[in-house]
Amino acid sequence: MSRKMKNKVIHNLRIERIAAEGKCVAHHEGKVVFVQNAAPGDLVDVRINRGKSSFMEGEAIHFHEYSKDRVEPFCGHFGICGGCKWQHIHYDLQMDYKRQQVVDQFTRIGKVPIPEVNPIIGSAQTQYYRNKLDFTFSNSRWLTREEINSGKAFERNALGFHIPKMFDKIIDIEHCYLQSEPSNEVRNNLKEFALNEGLSFYDLRNQVGLLRNLIIRTTSTGESMVIVQFGEDDPEGIEKVMAFLHEKFPSLTSLLYIINLKKNETFHDQVIVTYAGKDYIEEEMEGLKFRIGPKSFYQTNSLQAFELYKVAREYAGLTGEEVVYDLYTGTGTIANFIAKQAKEVIGIEYVEAAIEDAKLNSKINNIHNTRFYAGDMKDILTPAFASKHPKPDVVITDPPRAGMHEDVVKMLLQLAAPVIVYVSCNPATQARDIALLAEKYQVEKIQPVDMFPQTYHVENVVRLRLKP
Ligand SMILES: C[S@@+](CC[C@H](N)C(=O)[O-])C[C@H]1O[C@@H](n2cnc3c(N)ncnc32)[C@H](O)[C@@H]1O
Repeated sequence: MSRKMKNKVIHNLRIERIAAEGKCVAHHEGKVVFVQNAAPGDLVDVRINRGKSSFMEGEAIHFHEYSKDRVEPFCGHFGICGGCKWQHIHYDLQMDYKRQQVVDQFTRIGKVPIPEVNPIIGSAQTQYYRNKLDFTFSNSRWLTREEINSGKAFERNALGFHIPKMFDKIIDIEHCYLQSEPSNEVRNNLKEFALNEGLSFYDLRNQVGLLRNLIIRTTSTGESMVIVQFGEDDPEGIEKVMAFLHEKFPSLTSLLYIINLKKNETFHDQVIVTYAGKDYIEEEMEGLKFRIGPKSFYQTNSLQAFELYKVAREYAGLTGEEVVYDLYTGTGTIANFIAKQAKEVIGIEYVEAAIEDAKLNSKINNIHNTRFYAGDMKDILTPAFASKHPKPDVVITDPPRAGMHEDVVKMLLQLAAPVIVYVSCNPATQARDIALLAEKYQVEKIQPVDMFPQTYHVENVVRLRLKP
């Protein structure tokens, strides 16, 4: 970007709409300007911080008019925390914008004929909908400009979330609207106890300190799991913390800890110690039980996951006679959810531990018509695999944000299952993959589902039918 443009302020820009990834769009002298911190309808001055020949990016620094569609954000941490960035937009409009994102991606990237995109299925809970939160301890609490300018001294120990794009700065959370109790209670009580006891909060730069992370998982069945990650092997300090949690929160059904002395805080390769209760919690859906261990993936909005899976099952159109491939099966949740309506379900997934969970979930639910395989999709789903297994009547695919590898798409074209149900958390890569599948498939139905209210994220389910 030319020096002339950097930090230049453009005055009186009207925000027109919201584009992919929640960016607000305005125009200036024929160029698109992506604006942060705004809402469609706002009239703002924008400071430019990045520019290319075809677009610019900047931040709203002064508001001449606020959009009539704005609502008062409910959270005291709004504007600093990276969590619920769309709180200032009415939920009905959030849903419209998400649906529009799907339409835009299929029009611009997919470029395939599509039917009318259904209205998005809204989340019954727009607050307290997450079943898992991960808080970080830090001895370097993020201070706001006002706090710094006040000249006062502030407590620098914090327990909360990372400030976007700053690995060592943590916003101290007083109340989070994402997870129901005991989440706020556990976090605030543990922080107070640690401060009173003088226990050390983790120093993310120098990688020292006892208290490192706090992970809280809750379920709709009332079970809850708390995992504390310690950054030092200090038996006395660890016992103090765990005994406090055990005594203060007897309703926790799984109380675990990890001593993680590694540089990074991921714990998939760490030993997990059960301090009290079970080493798993259980979620339930339509009478099916899903066992969730500390390392297991589970969709983070449980109630809405049920809605999503119902759409996937309906789009699969099962009669009991079908062989279904469930690609990117994770812990086999979709596979087990549909198993009773199918002849056989074959699930494939990269993470071996997830496949173990998938098998266990079949076992505890007396499901005997599932088979699971672990490995990279492009290496497992091959012509050799297809020749050794029954041909699929339906393929359900739910890849990560990056979408499917080109070889996997090619294999799907070779398999030519009569129906493909494509579930995605990224309509851009979904539209790209469907453009390739359009060689043999037509898009029959499109159903967006809102899994993450107050954010721009959108989940989308597409039913594809093999062309005659
Ligand atoms: C969006 S999640 C799907 C979760 C699952 N369908 C559910 O609803 O719980 C995507 C899954 O794809 C897996 N995955 C990512 N890349 C993969 C690959 N190359 N091959 C196989 N699985 C992969 C991830 O481990 C993750 O479990």
